Amino acid sequence: MSLHERPASSPVGEAIPHESAALHVTGHALYTDDLGVRLQNLLHAWPVQSPHAHAEVTALDTAPALAVPGVVRVLTAADVPGVNDAGVKGDEPLFPQVARYHGHAVCWVLAESEEAARVGASAVRVTWTPLPSVVTVAEAIAAGAFQGAQSTLSRGDVAVGFAQAAHVLTGEFDIGGQEHFYLETNAALAHVDEAGQVFIQSSTQHPTETQEITAHVLGVPSSHVTVQCLRMGGGFGGKEMQPHGYAAIAALGTTLTGRPVRLRLNRTQDLTMTGKRHPFHAVWKAGFDENGRFTALEVTLTSDGGWSLDLSEPVMARALCHIDNAYFIPHVLAHGRIARTNKTSQTAFRGFGGPQGMLVVEDILGRAAPRLGLDAHELRARNFYQPGEATPYGQPVRHAERLHDLWAQLLTRSDFHARRAEVAAFNAAHPHTKRGLSVTPVKFGISFNFTAYNQAGALVHVYKDGSVLINHGGTEMGQGLHTKMMQVAATALGVPLSSVRLAPTRTDKVPNTSATAASSGADLNGGAVKDACDQIRARLSEVAAGTLGVHPDDVRFEAGRVCALGHPERGMAFAELVHDAYHRRTPLWAAGFYRTPGLHWDRAAMQGEPFKYFSYGAAVTEVEVDGFTGAYRVRRADVLHDVGDSLSPLIDLGQVEGGYVQGLGWLTLEELRWDESGGPNRGRLLTQSASTYKLPSFSELPEVFNVALLERATETGVVYGSKAVGEPPLMLAISAREALREACAAFGPPGRETVLRSPATPEAVYWALNTARRATGKQVAADD
Ligand code: MTE
Ligand code: MOS
Repeated sequence: MSLHERPASSPVGEAIPHESAALHVTGHALYTDDLGVRLQNLLHAWPVQSPHAHAEVTALDTAPALAVPGVVRVLTAADVPGVNDAGVKGDEPLFPQVARYHGHAVCWVLAESEEAARVGASAVRVTWTPLPSVVTVAEAIAAGAFQGAQSTLSRGDVAVGFAQAAHVLTGEFDIGGQEHFYLETNAALAHVDEAGQVFIQSSTQHPTETQEITAHVLGVPSSHVTVQCLRMGGGFGGKEMQPHGYAAIAALGTTLTGRPVRLRLNRTQDLTMTGKRHPFHAVWKAGFDENGRFTALEVTLTSDGGWSLDLSEPVMARALCHIDNAYFIPHVLAHGRIARTNKTSQTAFRGFGGPQGMLVVEDILGRAAPRLGLDAHELRARNFYQPGEATPYGQPVRHAERLHDLWAQLLTRSDFHARRAEVAAFNAAHPHTKRGLSVTPVKFGISFNFTAYNQAGALVHVYKDGSVLINHGGTEMGQGLHTKMMQVAATALGVPLSSVRLAPTRTDKVPNTSATAASSGADLNGGAVKDACDQIRARLSEVAAGTLGVHPDDVRFEAGRVCALGHPERGMAFAELVHDAYHRRTPLWAAGFYRTPGLHWDRAAMQGEPFKYFSYGAAVTEVEVDGFTGAYRVRRADVLHDVGDSLSPLIDLGQVEGGYVQGLGWLTLEELRWDESGGPNRGRLLTQSASTYKLPSFSELPEVFNVALLERATETGVVYGSKAVGEPPLMLAISAREALREACAAFGPPGRETVLRSPATPEAVYWALNTARRATGKQVAADD
């Protein structure tokens, strides 16, 4: 059978709960920091953070801290035996001489208790020499403060495209960042074993890189460091790069003191120290022909990378590769550059730049529609990729017809056209309350742009009693990867799910793993788990074939039984076969490997086929806006999303719902505010707690929320015909932003462009609707 084919009845595709659901809801699930209490002699780490956005450490006196009862040691740059750097670009000193953002940790105190460490940290005497700082993207652009490579994606000749245009529109757009706000903050726990090897438990999406960076900080080979990740209480991209430095601090502390070291950021530390979604600034010019079809798009994207490069370059690459979203644009010229600012180092966040790129084109279409005299949904559909067309980076848009199909199905399911009429009638009858109803598509490329990352390994053991233990290189952050991997193994070996156990992710079991990211966890690790299982099954087939007197190809494995094709009565229990195979000295374990075939990417030219396939989806959202305050509610959302043939439908539904809501937070509620003044707190993150940073909660959920997965959607060439699901649904929430724009527009005369800030907070919505309302010449008293 090929990779995408699945047996008629199989654990894959069954709607089962998350493997840890019961543990999650009863509080029995253990996270990295929970493991610390089990260790004796534990030391606790606390950072000394910079009170300046940019300042040199001219003197560092640790003596007062050492005088605090309970303080054992203060870790500084002088303690680093290897390389004093926590990143992969060489620009992230672990113990910096110059603090580059407000909150930057310059040294760490180890103590008997967390409280002693905290008091010790406040006693460290640091002499700061403040330096000039760059806090906003606008300041960075004015100062020419950029970092990393600048990249350009182009196709055709935009001059030709603009010459063909009947309408040329221009604009600027600022896109806000986003805090990951995973429930579990960054944590690491390190100890040294009897042979001097370092063992680190870390809340990391990328155990291999955590291992490598710890090893180079300690100046030891990778083989001396093992990293384990039991599970994370959310990662969302925020634990792809950020955990390395914290793991290295804990590892350094344990090698110097011989005692286990625990480091767990409290919420304020996590908010002020770790990177977030990149804010973006876009300047654009778009050409449309008289039918509303794009003729050209020229855009310059500037992301706010913060103080160091981190993942800013690949995030920009993904933004540029999603500037088209679902639309064919014949002539494209898109530039990307990364601002260097004195802020946290912005990093991966669900969608990895894709949402920012996509939001630019959706904003353009939302603004342009009334000026082109078209309904926004009509304008969008007219520009969809047709089968056979390719993206600006040269990748054919395979299955473009799926999007057309899905769009049509969703409009029917959501009763879109009838509800548009209802909304119009409602708006005509209500001068101070308006509704908006919008639909937007998602096309998201699956695979890491960086080709080498598209590989994975697994280790599968079958024990003599027929029970199965799997290890794979992916990490579990709530997304249900482990659940899916157990379903894959059970299907591939033809055993019930209850026979399969999954062991925690560790670098000494599966080496050289990629980050669990780019939504590719199930595609990659699923391919590797299946490969390992297939090897074992092939060996078992030989044994069974002998016993059953058939050809090995005619042996069937299903639900814990092994039998001859067409003769279900002629067979044996899986455990019995395994027992036989052991006595015949058959290896009952295997290492599996998977590499995504057919990928290539020229990073400099920004051309190639970086993605295995595209993930498609669309959402219809209806909102209601109050004209006096800008307050709004989401009345209803309907989603149809393509996950191929789902590996695990309940998990996938959860991913789609969670992604939509996280996107809704980014686009409507969550607003990072930094002190941009010239005052003493310049560069300080002002929104440093849940009281000032508004996350979506139950009360902001769509009042009616219908989520469905596209049916009969087998994706060939992917494990059991499935598609990735982790990130793409976040971008479905763009439909809510567009619905808000439509509702704002309804306060004014038709045919006018509505500019809406992002995030579309009630305040931003108020100003947008107020502008629309002023255009009617009628004003309500409340305005003035
Ligand atoms: N879902 C939950 N519950 N928690 C998370 O941290 N991270 C998202 C997504 N869904 C996340 C999540 C991100 S950013 C990615 S890249 C994928 O899950 C990673 O997992 P996958 O590759 O197994 O889909
Ligand atoms: Mo996800 S942003 O690729 O970790």
